[in-house]
Amino acid sequence: MILGLETSCDETAAALVTAEGEIKANVVASQVDLHARYGGVVPEIASRRHLELIGPVIDETLSAAGVTFADIDGIAVTAGPGLIGALLVGLSAAKAIAWSRGLPLIPVEHLHGHVASLYLQPTDLQPPFTCLLASGGHTLLLDVSDRGWENVRIVGRTLDDAAGEAFDKGARLLGLGYPGGAEIDRLAKEGDPAAFSFPVARVPGLDFSFSGLKTALLYTVRDLGPDAVAERKADLAASYQHAIVRALTERVHEAAGDRQIAIVGGVAANSALRASLPEAIAAPLALCTDNAAMIASAGRYSVRLTSPEFLALDAHAQSL
Ligand code: KG4
Ligand code: ZN
Repeated sequence: MILGLETSCDETAAALVTAEGEIKANVVASQVDLHARYGGVVPEIASRRHLELIGPVIDETLSAAGVTFADIDGIAVTAGPGLIGALLVGLSAAKAIAWSRGLPLIPVEHLHGHVASLYLQPTDLQPPFTCLLASGGHTLLLDVSDRGWENVRIVGRTLDDAAGEAFDKGARLLGLGYPGGAEIDRLAKEGDPAAFSFPVARVPGLDFSFSGLKTALLYTVRDLGPDAVAERKADLAASYQHAIVRALTERVHEAAGDRQIAIVGGVAANSALRASLPEAIAAPLALCTDNAAMIASAGRYSVRLTSPEFLALDAHAQSL
């Protein structure tokens, strides 16, 4: 059994996963309310809150599964990419537990974690497949040939904003709450996706670009004026979402050819995206946004470090 820890952004999360990919416990303490009034995650506030929550969240995870540290065989922890102060809280907790209990420590790439959300029961997807990883920080097309991370190839990426960032910025322009993806998803259900025509950027190869779309929404909102925006908010949300979903869907089809398609990350929770890719394997909703079950899952396919080797391990803000 692997204990997973995830603190790369504004979720303090711990989970227990067996070697067979069964989730024994999955606890996520979201800090979203704490950051909402600032319209985004404040890194220093996130670090401090992680520090307060990490102990209780681990305790709750163990008691939810009815186990103790004696039942654990390794600690998997997100080492990056993410907010450096936030990552250090999870990594330090993992080192302390691993050192004191004589357990191996398994550093995990956050992006590997998102892909490994597909390797848990009942999905238990087997490579090869083409994976769209769309979150608040990343939009990647991955060629996945193996459950390890070394053999995953990036075949496309965003040249500017991530898809989740496009959702969040669009939501902000429409005066919706933070984070905006789920809000746009909800509001779009009452709107007409063909009411406004927003552009899908045509960039070469298999890359994405979402900054022009955000600007198009900005100009539309300006031209309409506050009263018309308020009245047509659902149409704006539906049309804006439609453009993002079309961009993602077209590219993933191009990349995959006749291979299996899978979608992961926070944006994979989007109902319009899931509906427009009926043939795709999507991560279960609870495992799309950040969680530690996916980190524990990835830990099963990653290198285990022993003491004192892992004590020198550092967190990293950028992708390796
Ligand atoms: O994977 P995630 O939890 O964190 C990162 O690693 O970034 O993704 C968070 C992103 C946010 O941008 C959020 O707005 C977006 O996922 N998101 C959604 C939905 N739920 C979350 N975007 C569109 N539709 C949703 N239902
Ligand atoms: Zn994530």
